[in-house]
Amino acid sequence: MRLDREHAHALDAADPLAAWHDRFILPREPGSGRELVYLCGHSLGAQPVLAAEYVEEVMRDWRSLAVEGHFSGRHPWMSYHERLAPALADLVGADPQEVVAMNSLTANLHLMLVSFYRPAGERRALLLERGAFPSDRHAVESQVRFHGLDPARDLIEIGPRPGEDLLRTEDIVALIEREGTRIATILLPGIQYLTGQALDIAAITAAGQRAGCTVGWDLAHAAGNVPLRLHDANVDFAVWCNYKYLNGGPGTVGGAFVHARHARSAALPRFAGWWGHDQATRFLMAPEFNPIPGAEGWQLSNPPVLAMAPLAASLEHFAAAGLPALRRKSIALTRYFEQLVLARLQGRVQIVTPADPAARGAALSLRLLGLPRDRARGVFDGLRRRGILPDWREPDVIRAAPVPFYNRHDDVWRCVDALDAELAR
Ligand SMILES: Cc1ncc(COP(=O)(O)O)c(C=O)c1O
Repeated sequence: MRLDREHAHALDAADPLAAWHDRFILPREPGSGRELVYLCGHSLGAQPVLAAEYVEEVMRDWRSLAVEGHFSGRHPWMSYHERLAPALADLVGADPQEVVAMNSLTANLHLMLVSFYRPAGERRALLLERGAFPSDRHAVESQVRFHGLDPARDLIEIGPRPGEDLLRTEDIVALIEREGTRIATILLPGIQYLTGQALDIAAITAAGQRAGCTVGWDLAHAAGNVPLRLHDANVDFAVWCNYKYLNGGPGTVGGAFVHARHARSAALPRFAGWWGHDQATRFLMAPEFNPIPGAEGWQLSNPPVLAMAPLAASLEHFAAAGLPALRRKSIALTRYFEQLVLARLQGRVQIVTPADPAARGAALSLRLLGLPRDRARGVFDGLRRRGILPDWREPDVIRAAPVPFYNRHDDVWRCVDALDAELAR
């Protein structure tokens, strides 16, 4: 393994996806105008150049067509969300009618839990991971309370073993087998936000369903990052946001997946809205609710088209580049990152993220070892001064994601070099 910067440049020169970098706008240093090394695609994806054009198209149609923009123009707003479904479906391994772009992740999680978390009799509990993203925990706890239950009793948590950072599939499966008759619903992350660990969605979903539970996934850090096969894994429901690896822009609409076998399930309760009602009769304005079969039937409101426009641009890029090619580059880029960290920062930095490429996405979580919290934070601030932009998670973890669309091996090299220099200060 060569550690010199020239090698990074050689790897970039051989990268078949290198040209995609220029189709994204990366942040720049205010004074010098120098492009920053942006390693925060796991938090907010970079802006596709095409996004502004698509937003302007909506603005233009609004100016020139006003209300008629719902039905005319190049991309009528009535069906704008349908434009997103095929590419989203491809990314999560679903049929287009199993996915919908709507609301936001947490709102979609509530809608899904209303339908799929149905505590009854002894089967009342919800299984969550101990380190769950706070919004998931808030949503789940409030749902448990909404059913008149007590989170202290009816929320079951699974965490890593003492002294470990990562979840073990065998521990999750063992807990499901032990407690399964108590568990109504399982909610876990496709990729854990803090450690970057990818869970075995198929194995855990199968174990949960064998025990009679419904199984849902938070794919915030997985969608657009790793290939997913939600339909084949028989996942009941999933939710994700589209502003991380999917580059849809800050606060853009989220995504939801409902398995095809639930598409027409009249038994499922749901919180309904007019946009979930059958399109053919929606404007008859009748009082009865007749849901669109599939995920679209969970929609509430007419969609925020302006927020969807950048996502439409990004999804076109995903369709053109192809997730398999992006993933190939991603695996290589993250392995290169890992090798540089191991070679140059051994003993000073611990890679929390699993070493197995199948058990992680693009991001690595790096724990700074043996430093008081303020000094560790100082190292992170030093990176920012050097033009490197990962993010910081208390008390000692730097998360950095080289994203195959717009990051280069040279970005990774510069990040590790800067970390080396800051740790040596
Ligand atoms: C794992 C995970 N779940 C949930 C959320 C909440 O997303 P939203 O604010 O879009 O509801 C986030 C946001 O970053 C997240 O990373």
